[in-house]
Amino acid sequence: MQEQNAYYLNQIYSQNMQERQQTGRIRKCLTHTFGCQMNERDSEILFGFLEQMGYEKTDVEAEADLILFNTCCIREKAESKVLSQLGELKKLKQQKPDLIIGVCGCMMQQKGMADMVRVSAPHVDLIFGTHNLHHFPEYIYNLYQGKGKQIAIVDKEEAVQEGLPSYRDDRFRALVNIVYGCNNFCTYCIVPYVRGRERSRRQADIVQEVKDLVADGVVEITLLGQNVNSYGLDLADGTTFAGLLRELNEIEGLRRIRYMTSHPKDLTEELVKTIAESSKVVDHFHLPVQSGSTRVLGLMNRRYTKEDYLKRVELIRRYMPDAAITTDIIVGFPGETEEDFLETIDLVKQVKFDSAFTFIYSRRTGTPAARMEDPVTLDEKKERLQRLNDVLSQIGRGINDRLQDTVVEVLVEGPSKTNADMLTGRTTTNKTVIFAGDPSLIGQIVNVTVTEAQTWVLKGALAE
Ligand code: 5AD
Ligand code: SF4
Repeated sequence: MQEQNAYYLNQIYSQNMQERQQTGRIRKCLTHTFGCQMNERDSEILFGFLEQMGYEKTDVEAEADLILFNTCCIREKAESKVLSQLGELKKLKQQKPDLIIGVCGCMMQQKGMADMVRVSAPHVDLIFGTHNLHHFPEYIYNLYQGKGKQIAIVDKEEAVQEGLPSYRDDRFRALVNIVYGCNNFCTYCIVPYVRGRERSRRQADIVQEVKDLVADGVVEITLLGQNVNSYGLDLADGTTFAGLLRELNEIEGLRRIRYMTSHPKDLTEELVKTIAESSKVVDHFHLPVQSGSTRVLGLMNRRYTKEDYLKRVELIRRYMPDAAITTDIIVGFPGETEEDFLETIDLVKQVKFDSAFTFIYSRRTGTPAARMEDPVTLDEKKERLQRLNDVLSQIGRGINDRLQDTVVEVLVEGPSKTNADMLTGRTTTNKTVIFAGDPSLIGQIVNVTVTEAQTWVLKGALAE
């Protein structure tokens, strides 16, 4: 694979450089990345390939010679956004016929979707799915060779690919895949159908990658998997997530280890203990609960009850009383009653989540939940979402208020998005802190006094 790719990459690079010499044209590329960090990571790999082809990055669509949509299909909203943005590109393609437009990622992996895009957006040159990302150089090569539209969707996942290139915008933080796919088949979720079964990377490969990143200046890594807690189980050689964390924790120069996402059913006492003992693993658990109703959890195939979840929370509080706990919640799952919803509110109040991502259930064709009766109206669901968010903000505010005037350790990430004169960073508990400071602090861990606690951010001042 790597040899083939090297050939394609070289050919494309030479052609681009020749063109640059002859005409001065520098080919530019742009990616619209939708959805989760897994997709962001995939886009870094695609950019890595593009860099090796001699492309430069741009944020301006009109300047781009190659535009890629890395799509998400977790909810309907993410899908409709892609389709409308794609439609808008028709004009640009007419003005610039050699513009390459590609669509890839989860949405293309769904049955019939690639065909739908092919027919409804004939200006698209390239369509591929999640399982053949590493064939990207070949598709671009074929387009350069004038072989016409490239459409490549494969149903079966291939072996885990190592040694792919990568392009990171952030010098100090990096995303690291540890396990691909998902075996859980929650009844509302499309992910197992588009990302395939769980495939873990070898621990040695992950450790080497992290060491290389640290040598390159990275201080914080985020380990990625749909369910990191089941990392290693498919390797059947004793590899576990806890073992991986223990080894990564020893890497000199690495300061923080984050991970996404954990399935509550696989959160064991051994793992919580390991996290508590590993100083670099952050004091933050993102533990999606989805619902507080045991009846709904059953329908969702989550394989835990409300009480099971509360026990996991107790475990966390026992070993790490100061850790933040955040979650994902779906309201309006098919047949969710007012009583079910009140169970969710009750759970939220018992756990006191620091924050949560909340969603209205979105029907995904092909999933078991899509065939369930759903008598609750959208207005009712919206009203439930509002009530839930109100409770969550009240709790979040209370937790942040208690941080007022305390000193927190912040890993400085960069200029604040809302005010470029300020810096932004995060605490180990994943709270965003905004404060004034010199840009030379970016990438360092500094002490900040919280001067103004708000509901979702903390304002502060450098403590030294
Ligand atoms: N509708 C609404 N939310 C969903 N999620 C996953 N599938 C759906 C769906 N069909 C949410 C879950 C998951 C998060 C990533 O997205 O809460 O944890
Ligand atoms: Fe979807 Fe459930 Fe797998 Fe998460 S664990 S990706 S919600 S099926």
